[in-house]
Amino acid sequence: MAQTILVTGATGTVGSELVKALANRGLVVRAGVHSLIKGERLKQLNPEVQLVEIEYARPESLHVALTGTDRVFMITPFSEDQVAIGKRIIDAAKQAGVQQVVKLSAAGAEAEPGIQLGRWHREMEQYLEQSGLPYTLLRPGSFMQNFLTYNGEAIRTEGKLYLPLGEAKVNYIDARDIAATAAAILSSPVAEHQGKAYFLSGPAAVGGTDVAAALSQATGRSVSYVDVPEQAAAQAMAQAPAWLRDSLLELNHISKNGHAAGLSPVVEQLTGCPARSIEQFAKDYRQQFQAAPAT
Ligand SMILES: NC(=O)c1ccc[n+]([C@@H]2O[C@H](COP(=O)([O-])OP(=O)(O)OC[C@H]3O[C@@H](n4cnc5c(N)ncnc54)[C@H](OP(=O)(O)O)[C@@H]3O)[C@@H](O)[C@H]2O)c1
Repeated sequence: MAQTILVTGATGTVGSELVKALANRGLVVRAGVHSLIKGERLKQLNPEVQLVEIEYARPESLHVALTGTDRVFMITPFSEDQVAIGKRIIDAAKQAGVQQVVKLSAAGAEAEPGIQLGRWHREMEQYLEQSGLPYTLLRPGSFMQNFLTYNGEAIRTEGKLYLPLGEAKVNYIDARDIAATAAAILSSPVAEHQGKAYFLSGPAAVGGTDVAAALSQATGRSVSYVDVPEQAAAQAMAQAPAWLRDSLLELNHISKNGHAAGLSPVVEQLTGCPARSIEQFAKDYRQQFQAAPAT
């Protein structure tokens, strides 16, 4: 009988691409969605996709979602209680007797002492390693899609890409390549990737000026990089919750100092296709970076 694969966080950046990638391979996909209404979009992509409602604060919803599930792709949200959520998902997966958990982690999670974002992921990784469940860890660098999520409005309305990164180069990865790599793992025999941790990156480390140039080229309008001093970035986030502000500022700080520039060949090795470049990303998403026409 065909195996059923549960994707948590299925309406998010990586989850929605993974649901698509798995369904395109003809696999049985169960999309774990926070809200069934948001999940409808996934069903429109492919009517074979099953939808199941998950609220991480309600472990019983995880038990329902995991019943009859063979493999799980586990995405935890960027929230203050992400470690507790991750442990809850692992506990529920163990109770349901799943055959494999693939966890979306983050580049540098293994570093010691590392940064807070990595330590949260490492705590979840270790919990998974000790659970006795077969597992695989994916540790991607920063997503190219962040330029839409966090910078999209300023790019569209001002033609500016504000980042506190100086001249640093960063190994951004397209979330579609994370999804393609995850799909390759989830459709291979579990033993092939059991206990492995894969660092994932795009094909090149690029700076703010390179990203702005790619966006300018793709949209046909001028987008310029603005190097924001770290102190100004901290001020701009003054009202944000401390856990969020401090963890992002810390990530930007190490990136500015050149610690997010390493590259990995794993996307191409596991998918057979080269990882997408920033130019390809900008081209594929150009409409979403276009300024809304004046009314
Ligand atoms: N962004 C990066 O550059 C980057 C780099 C490396 C690693 N990561 C890691 O990637 C993960 C995030 O992945 P992503 O960006 O694909 O996620 P995302 O787009 O932020 O989506 C999060 C998903 O989780 C769902 N969700 C949130 N709270 C929930 C709850 N209480 N119960 C059930 N579902 C809930 C959301 O549904 P709703 O929207 O309906 O609430 C959404 O589908 C994090 O662990 C982050 O550390 C990110």
